[in-house]
Amino acid sequence: MGKANQNEDYLFKKVYDDVLHRIERKEWKEHEKLPSVRQLASEMNVHRLTVLKAYQLLKQHDKVYVKDKSGYFVQSIVTKYIECLDQDNPIVSAYVKKNHLSEIHQPSVSYHFSQALIDPNLLPNHYFSNYVKEVFDLYPKVLATYSTVQGDLELRETLTQYFINHYKTHLSPDELLITSGSQQAIHLIAQAFIKPRDVVLFERPSYSAAIDIFKAQGAQIVTVDIHPEGYDLEQVEYYIKKYKPRLFYLNPTFHNPTGYTVSVEQRKRLVELAEHYRFLIIEDDAYHDIYFDQAPPAPIYTFDSVGTVIYIRSFCKYISPGLRIATVICPSSLMKSLLTEKSLADNGSPLLNQKIFLHYFSSLRLQQHLEKIRIALQIRKEIMEEELAVTGWRWNSPKGGLNLWVQLPDDLPTELLLSRSIAQSISFVPGQVCDPLKQLSSWIRLSYSYANEKQLREGVKKLVTVAQSLSK
Ligand SMILES: Cc1ncc(COP(=O)(O)O)c(C=O)c1O
Repeated sequence: MGKANQNEDYLFKKVYDDVLHRIERKEWKEHEKLPSVRQLASEMNVHRLTVLKAYQLLKQHDKVYVKDKSGYFVQSIVTKYIECLDQDNPIVSAYVKKNHLSEIHQPSVSYHFSQALIDPNLLPNHYFSNYVKEVFDLYPKVLATYSTVQGDLELRETLTQYFINHYKTHLSPDELLITSGSQQAIHLIAQAFIKPRDVVLFERPSYSAAIDIFKAQGAQIVTVDIHPEGYDLEQVEYYIKKYKPRLFYLNPTFHNPTGYTVSVEQRKRLVELAEHYRFLIIEDDAYHDIYFDQAPPAPIYTFDSVGTVIYIRSFCKYISPGLRIATVICPSSLMKSLLTEKSLADNGSPLLNQKIFLHYFSSLRLQQHLEKIRIALQIRKEIMEEELAVTGWRWNSPKGGLNLWVQLPDDLPTELLLSRSIAQSISFVPGQVCDPLKQLSSWIRLSYSYANEKQLREGVKKLVTVAQSLSK
C-alpha cells in the first residue's frame, strides 16, 4: 500500500472513530443532525471525501441514517430494535400494529435477560408427558370436538372451587372464561370495551404488550406512576375526574416490570373509586403465586361487590407457557361481550390443553412445584443482585415476580448498552418499551428467571463489563 493510501486510511479511521465517540458520549443525541460533510472536513482538516466515506460506513453500521437532501442524523439504537416497521410503505404501515416486546426478543442470544419466563427446566415437563396419555384414556374424543367458547366446564368448576377456597368469594363457573393466555384476555377486553379515543388509565411503567394492545385499539393512554408503595391515589382520582377513563388496566401484584405490590388499603380504595366514578378495573394477575417469603394480598376483584373489576389470572408463567391457559373472572353483565369476542377470535381455547392443565392443576404436584420454583427463583434473583452489586445501579429488591427494574446512571446510554450487549449475546428490555410515554430511558428490565444459575453469573458479569467499558 502506498504512503498516500495509508495516510488516507488513517484519516478515514480517525474521522469514523471521532464521530462514533461523539455519538456515544451523547455530544450528538439521537436523531440530531451531524455537521455537514463540508463543515466536518474543515473542522478536522481532512478532505470532504474522507468525511463522506466515514459517514457512509457509519450508516452501514447503523450508527447514523440519511434523510433525503438534509444530511446525516444520529440513529437511535432502541428505535432500531423497537421500531422495525416498514415506515417507507404507507399501504403496509397504515395497518401494521406493533408489539415492541416481541421485537426485543427477536435477536438470538445466549443470555436471555429480556424474557419474563421461567427456565423450562424448572417446569413440570416430565409429569405433563405422563398426564397426556392419561388424558387421552379419560377423554378418548378430546381431539374430535371443540371446547365450548367459554371453556371446558370441568376446568371452570375446578378453578371456581380454587378461587372460593382461597378467597371465600361467591363465584359461579358462569363467571369464568378460559382464554389462551392472559395476553388473549387483554386483547379480548380491549376489543370488547374500547373504541378509538376512549381514555384508558395505565400504570407507568407497565406491561409492554398491554400498552401495544390498547394503543392498537385506538385508546388514549393516561398514565399513573407506580411506586414501591403503590399509586398516588389523589392523582388517580384527579385523572379520573379530568379524563373520565373507561378503564384502568393494572398489574398490582409483583408488577411487571417493577415487582411492586399494591397494599390492601389501596386495593379497597381503588374499588371504591371505580364504583363511584363508574369505570372498569382490569386486574392482570400473572405473578400472584410467584412470591418468595410472603403471599401477596388478595386480588382487587375480591373487594368488588358491584361488578366493576375484571380479573385475569394466568397460569402460563409457572405451570406451562405452552398450554396457554388463563382465566378471566368477569361480572355476568360483561361476560356476553367477552364471549362474543372470544368466539370471533378462536371459538374457544383448545380442549386438549384445558384437559391436560386440569389434571395437573387438580393434582398434589402443584403445591410441591410452587414451593420448588419459589426457592429456585429467589436464588436466581439473589445471584443477579450479587453480580450487579459492583455497579452502583439502583433497584428495589422484589419480593416476587420475575424481574429487576434497574435504574442506570445518567452517563450510561441505555441504547448503546443494549446494542453492545446484544453483540455480546445478552438481551434485556429497555425501559422505554415499558413506558406508555416511551421515556424512562435510564431504566432497564432484567429478568432473572429464564437463565440458569451459571448463565446468570456469566451473563450479568459480561453485562457489567460492557457497561463499564461504556462509562469509562
Ligand atoms: C403482566 C403480564 N400480563 C400478561 C402477560 C402475558 O402472559 P400469558 O399470555 O403468557 O398469560 C405477561 C407476560 O409477560 C405479563 O407480564
